[in-house]
Amino acid sequence: MPITVSRSALMLSLLLGVGQAHALETPSPKALATQLGIPHPAVIAHRGASFDAPESTAPAYKLARDLGADYLELDLQRSKDGVLFVLHDDSLLRTTDVATKFPERKDRTANEFTMAELKTLDAGSWFNAAYPERARPSFAGQKILTLDEVIDIAEGNPKQKPGLYIETKEPKLFPGIERDLKDKLQDRGWLSPSGSKLAKRALGVGQGKGKVVLQTFEKSSLELLHKEMPKVPKILLLWVGEGNIEPRSKVTFAESGETDKAAYYAKQEPKDKAEFEQWVRYAKAHGAIGTGPSAALTHGGSQSYSDLVKPWMNQYTHDQGLLIHVYTVDEPVDFTKVLDAGVDGIFTNRASELLKYFKRPVTGSVAQLLEKHGY
Ligand code: G3P
Ligand code: CA
Repeated sequence: MPITVSRSALMLSLLLGVGQAHALETPSPKALATQLGIPHPAVIAHRGASFDAPESTAPAYKLARDLGADYLELDLQRSKDGVLFVLHDDSLLRTTDVATKFPERKDRTANEFTMAELKTLDAGSWFNAAYPERARPSFAGQKILTLDEVIDIAEGNPKQKPGLYIETKEPKLFPGIERDLKDKLQDRGWLSPSGSKLAKRALGVGQGKGKVVLQTFEKSSLELLHKEMPKVPKILLLWVGEGNIEPRSKVTFAESGETDKAAYYAKQEPKDKAEFEQWVRYAKAHGAIGTGPSAALTHGGSQSYSDLVKPWMNQYTHDQGLLIHVYTVDEPVDFTKVLDAGVDGIFTNRASELLKYFKRPVTGSVAQLLEKHGY
C-alpha cells in the first residue's frame, strides 16, 4: 500500500476510530462491482436457462442470452483430443445416451472421449424424460457444445450480449486447462481490454470490462487462473465438504440417517467461524474479487447445499472488499432471502424468474424465445 494511503488511513483512524475508517476505505459492493464492469445484482444463467431447456445445450444458452441474463455460466472440460467443451458432470451417464452409443465405455469420464465421439451423443432427450411438462421434441438430439460454440452463442444476438462465467470443472483432471482457456479467450477477442471493438457498444456485459468472470472450487486452479489472466475477475467457489471448507461434523450422508441429501447438507456448517474466514481471506490473497458460496433452499432439491450466505458470513466477505455470488437459487422466496442477507449476484437455473423478480425488461416469454429459434 502506498505511504500516502497508509497515512490517510492512519489520520482517518485517529479521527474516526478504526472501524469507521475501514468502512470508508472499503468501497461498497455495488461500487466495487461497477468498477469491475459486473452488474449489481448480477443474473448468472447457471448452465444456461437450464430449468427451461437441457442444461449446457444450445437452446439453454440461446434462451438465457435472449432473455437478457448478464452471464452464461458454464463448466469447462477438455476432450481426449484437446478440445475445450462444456459439461457439468465428469460422467456422461446422467445427461446423454452414452450407455446406448458406447455401452462398453459408458462409465468412463467424459474426457476419455474425443470431441467427435462426444458430438455423436444426444444431450437433450434425458431432459424430456425427466421433465415432461417442459419437454419439446426439438430438445431430443441436442449436442454437447464446445467452448467455441458457447462463445458463438454469446456473440450471436446483436441486441443481447451476455458475458461468460466460466468454471474450471475438476481441474485436476485437466492439467494446463487454465492456459488453454486463456489461449482460447485471447484468440476469440474476449481478453481484449474494454474500449476494443468488442466493447464499443454498451449492449450488455459481454461488451464491457467484466465480460468474463472465472470461477473454481479449487485453490490451485484459482492460483493458475490468476497467473494466466491476472486482470480477469475471479471467484472462489465455496462449499462445506472434502477439499473445501472443513465441516463441523464428520458424519457422512450414509451415516447420517437422512434420506434426503438437501436435509443432510442443510445441517452441514463450517467447523467454526475461523475456518470460514480463512477461506475468504485465501480467496482475496490469491486474486479473487469475490466468493461463490452455496445456499440452502427453502424447498430443498438436488442443488440445495449448506447455507454459506448467513448475514455474518456476507458481512465478513464484504469487509474484506469482496463480492458474493451465491449458487444456485431459483425461487422468489429464496431470491429474497439471499438478497436480504447481502449477496451481490445469483446463479440461477431460472433466469426468466430472476429477471422478472428484478423487474428487468425481457423481450419475450420463454416459449416465444424458444420458438423463435425453432425449438
Ligand atoms: O459454478 C457455480 C455453481 O455452478 C457451482 O456448482 O456444481 O453446479 O457447478 P455446480
Ligand atoms: Ca458451475
